[in-house]
Amino acid sequence: LNYCVPCTRKEIFETLVKGLQRLEYRGYDSAGIAVDGDKNTTTEDINNNKIVLIKKKGKVKALDEELYKIDCMDLEVELDTHFGMAHTRWATHGEPSALNSHPQRSDKNNEFVVIHNGIITNYKELKKYLNSKGYEFESETDTEVIPKLIKYVYDNREREDLSFSTLVERVIQQLVRSPLLIGVRSKYELSAEHIPIQYNTGEFFQREKGVQEKNSHNRPDISTAVNSTEDGKAVEYYFASDASAIIEHTNKVIYLEDDDIAAVVGGKLSLHRLNRLAGEDPVRAIQTLQMELQEIMKGNFEAFMQKEIFEQPESVFNTMRGRICFDTNKVILGGLKDHLKEIKRCRRLIMIGCGTSFHAAVATRQVLEELTELPVMVELASDFLDRNTPVFRDDVCFYISQSGETADTLMALRYCKDRGALTVGVTNTVGSSISRDTDCGVHINAGPEIGVASTKAYTSQFVALIMFGLIMSEDRISLQARRLEIINGLRILPELIKKVLTLDKNIKSIADELYEQRSLLVMGRGFNYATCLEGALKIKEIPYMHSEGILAGELKHGPLALIDKHMPVIMIIMRDACYTKCQNALQQVTARSGRPIILCCQDDPEVSKNAYKTIELPQTVDCLQGILSVIPLQLLSFHLAVLRGYDVDCPRNLAKSVTVE
Ligand code: G6P
Repeated sequence: LNYCVPCTRKEIFETLVKGLQRLEYRGYDSAGIAVDGDKNTTTEDINNNKIVLIKKKGKVKALDEELYKIDCMDLEVELDTHFGMAHTRWATHGEPSALNSHPQRSDKNNEFVVIHNGIITNYKELKKYLNSKGYEFESETDTEVIPKLIKYVYDNREREDLSFSTLVERVIQQLVRSPLLIGVRSKYELSAEHIPIQYNTGEFFQREKGVQEKNSHNRPDISTAVNSTEDGKAVEYYFASDASAIIEHTNKVIYLEDDDIAAVVGGKLSLHRLNRLAGEDPVRAIQTLQMELQEIMKGNFEAFMQKEIFEQPESVFNTMRGRICFDTNKVILGGLKDHLKEIKRCRRLIMIGCGTSFHAAVATRQVLEELTELPVMVELASDFLDRNTPVFRDDVCFYISQSGETADTLMALRYCKDRGALTVGVTNTVGSSISRDTDCGVHINAGPEIGVASTKAYTSQFVALIMFGLIMSEDRISLQARRLEIINGLRILPELIKKVLTLDKNIKSIADELYEQRSLLVMGRGFNYATCLEGALKIKEIPYMHSEGILAGELKHGPLALIDKHMPVIMIIMRDACYTKCQNALQQVTARSGRPIILCCQDDPEVSKNAYKTIELPQTVDCLQGILSVIPLQLLSFHLAVLRGYDVDCPRNLAKSVTVE
């Protein structure tokens, strides 16, 4: 929104499209915008409304092209006060299509238009009710009930002088069990505190039975960016679900809390609470973002994923920077220090995450058990909730999440908080819901991760969790030699990662051989089992090949049946406590004519002689080896996807931040 600086409609389009493109890395399937119409918008299509909707299936580029095909819009018209909203959709209800994409509207006149992130669980009941009142739906989305319900409440307001915020609030109170982030625009000049309101956005959460929940922890992120003039007066307001969409306009941001409603009224931003009492308006600090635009740009790399794989020497270093003193062997995590006593007294640790973040928990479980001498459970957030897992006040629960916004992980956080456990966030996104809602936490400092397939966040989560283990063991005399070994390993880790990255060409040549295969097994055990899971996930996510991470100890209990000379197999055999057992698995594979590609330590003739091919890695401390062994599989996934002709940064059907359950 802009109140002081006139700009053209073309500039509004460009701002909206640029913002969507910055979010496109999350992997969405359709996009749309709404802007104010003008006197020239007279075609039948847009029905001479004040609000114009333009929507398109596919990438943001397709929407961008569509915008300039609408010849009735005067692109050069200069507007003093202007408005635009834009959305990329990741289909949950209804297939990807222009009709199902947002903004959704109340009626053919676009009286109310809405964009929305989240799921409305009771949309079927609402739809049925609205249908019975004569409101017709045009999409298959749950979102469409919002504008329709707004219109219903508006149409039935009788003589009441209904303000826009009250109208929106009434509707939101009817929506059940959804983390919500919505933007609403009305073609009517409805009053809000007796001033015309231009835009209203808020985020809300409601319990299953429709009861408003205080202090809920499940919400998509929203930031309100403020661009100010020299005298400090705001001239533009941007509302976004991710700071990267707005970072080029301003780095001044307000994070909204649960149940906050933000409205821009007559050029002024006002905040209030859902169900507010008089005089209760919240005060929210304006924060300054440290993120730089170039940090999220691709540079000379073919894809963000590739860039992020190659950034790992620095990202891992940044995770440790200022936290490990290599002279004194002291490790400090500022975000945990006030809660360390409590953590040390706990009964067990529970590590919760989804996808790659879950694998970071699997990767560090063994060393955490060793360094903390506590039972460590690792849990997939969705399964943890499905099981109604018992959680106690003396449990410490870790929430590992790159984005800090994953709905399943957030729900698990809320579940454990309700049961009185201490909660610890391990995230890569300052200000994210998880980092705000946990009692304490560690920011992994890996820098923005854009590629949908997580790479550098994994290795940084890995290092952050190891640092936590080092802190927990600093008073244990029996563990000092082990601590020292790990700290020395961490000291040279960035250098070793650089060496692994020099293997890129060999890995590309292996990809050349494998890219036409349908399946690929990845096998290992002990400290490298997580690498198998994570490698297999990468190979599924980006090249769309069937892949399984197999615990080598389970080989003889089933997967061995898959082995023959045609089945591509990658085995991870490092010089650690599982070395001999891994060699047994290797024998079992070669005895069935399997032709394994082996990830092993440098100079290991014993393993090499049984390998079809080897990828030789520098050796490090056993519990850090997984950081090195995952990188060749990240690179392999990238090369396989390129060779198979797929879009590396936008894998089909996947999203970077999954903010729905
Ligand atoms: C999505 C992404 C995965 C990611 C997972 C957890 O499914 O596609 O790559 O690992 O979410 O994301 P988080 O942000 O919580 O780490």
